[in-house]
Amino acid sequence: MKLWSGRFSKSTDAAVDDFNSSIRFDMRMYKQDIKGSIAHASMLGKQGIIPKEDAELIVKTLGEILTDIENGKVEFLVDAEDIHMNIEKILTDRIGDAGKRLHTGRSRNDQVALDIRMYIKDEICEIRAMVISLMEAILKLASENTDTIMPGYTHLQKAQPITFAHHVMAYFEMLRRDIGRLDDTFKRTNICPLGSGALAATTYPLDREYVADALGFDGVTANSLDGVSDRDFALELMSTLSIMMMHLSRFCEELILWSSHEFSFVEMDDAYSTGSSIMPQKKNPDVAELIRGKTGRVYGDLMSLLTTMKGIPLAYNKDMQEDKEPVFDAIDTVKLCIPVFCSMILTMKIKKGTMLRGAKGGFTNATDAADYLVKKGLPFREAHAVVGKMVAYALEKGKALDEFSMDEFKTCSDIFEDDVYDAISMDTCVNGRNIIGGPAKEMVKTAIENGKKFVESIK
Ligand code: ARG
Repeated sequence: MKLWSGRFSKSTDAAVDDFNSSIRFDMRMYKQDIKGSIAHASMLGKQGIIPKEDAELIVKTLGEILTDIENGKVEFLVDAEDIHMNIEKILTDRIGDAGKRLHTGRSRNDQVALDIRMYIKDEICEIRAMVISLMEAILKLASENTDTIMPGYTHLQKAQPITFAHHVMAYFEMLRRDIGRLDDTFKRTNICPLGSGALAATTYPLDREYVADALGFDGVTANSLDGVSDRDFALELMSTLSIMMMHLSRFCEELILWSSHEFSFVEMDDAYSTGSSIMPQKKNPDVAELIRGKTGRVYGDLMSLLTTMKGIPLAYNKDMQEDKEPVFDAIDTVKLCIPVFCSMILTMKIKKGTMLRGAKGGFTNATDAADYLVKKGLPFREAHAVVGKMVAYALEKGKALDEFSMDEFKTCSDIFEDDVYDAISMDTCVNGRNIIGGPAKEMVKTAIENGKKFVESIK
């Protein structure tokens, strides 16, 4: 017998039961559902909407049900449709009439809206902690590599020398923004919809603030229709997670490139690589590739719910049951990726020699050669042209700019003097860029110190 079967003259088709049921995936919200019902029942008792003894019995029994679920002693039923009705049914089976009073002044519409908000709040806290660990891993990597010179790229063409520390600190900044987005999502998720009822609130004198407070919410939703039909917070979470995955994916793409024989800037630890079933020499960066791949999956989750929501009229429609699987999948995927990514970057070998050789080749000091001329009075455009010609000559001779003889320098421009060798050395190129945000060792060390303070401040 369905909890709502009063007006029906026959039972639902078994296939419809199965089709309609969401217990397979929403059972993971059992804890939130029970906590929400405990708060609701206490409030009903406090307000005298149901007898105090009933409220107390409900609260006590829900606590026992929670323990039983956690000990694997409860079996959920497909024809009880979802987690909300499964728990209500178990409660009623155990305590009869008192249990039947729990749903007073409440609808599954505001109940499910409450549960998913509570679930997302819990998960944001867990994901946030993972992101913080990842930020700490990046800070460690950066601290160890403030002297590790590597080429910086634009268009994947060598551009100017930087350090590995500076490069990875770029990802730290992305994660800092991800934390901001998670916190922002949390703020808008942290509003309690209970009391919205099915769509038009209720005639019972519910104390909405009491429930919100008991459940740790910042406040209550302001409109009952919006309270049950809003899933913005779920979309915000998934867009936050999509952006975060995009960051991991870009980092992974770089690690994949850098692990190639052609770059050889890093080597993944054996524990984070895989071999080939046919080619004995292979060592593949599968972990990084899979994280890059899973990014598409999280984008898909976001798109899925955006599409579900775009055409549904107010207020609740069953379409909205489709919110849960993408939300859960995006959360699961991110929680799977961050820890493995973290260990992967902490165990990889940084090949400082190839990085430095990479920086030295490819004329990454050409800008500095032009700046040298500018600092001695030549207009920048002319200096640019002089160095452009030097690069063409160097390519022909197969040498680097700092391998020019003084005579060769003088032929290009008589402004050049002995101090040019120091001016265009990799060290000067990197450490001369000592303005805020630059790659100079001192600047990056400050950035790392600030990063450490930031991480401490958000723990
Ligand atoms: N299982 C449903 C969901 O996930 C709960 C709300 C059902 N409400 C309803 N009127 N059918 O959305």
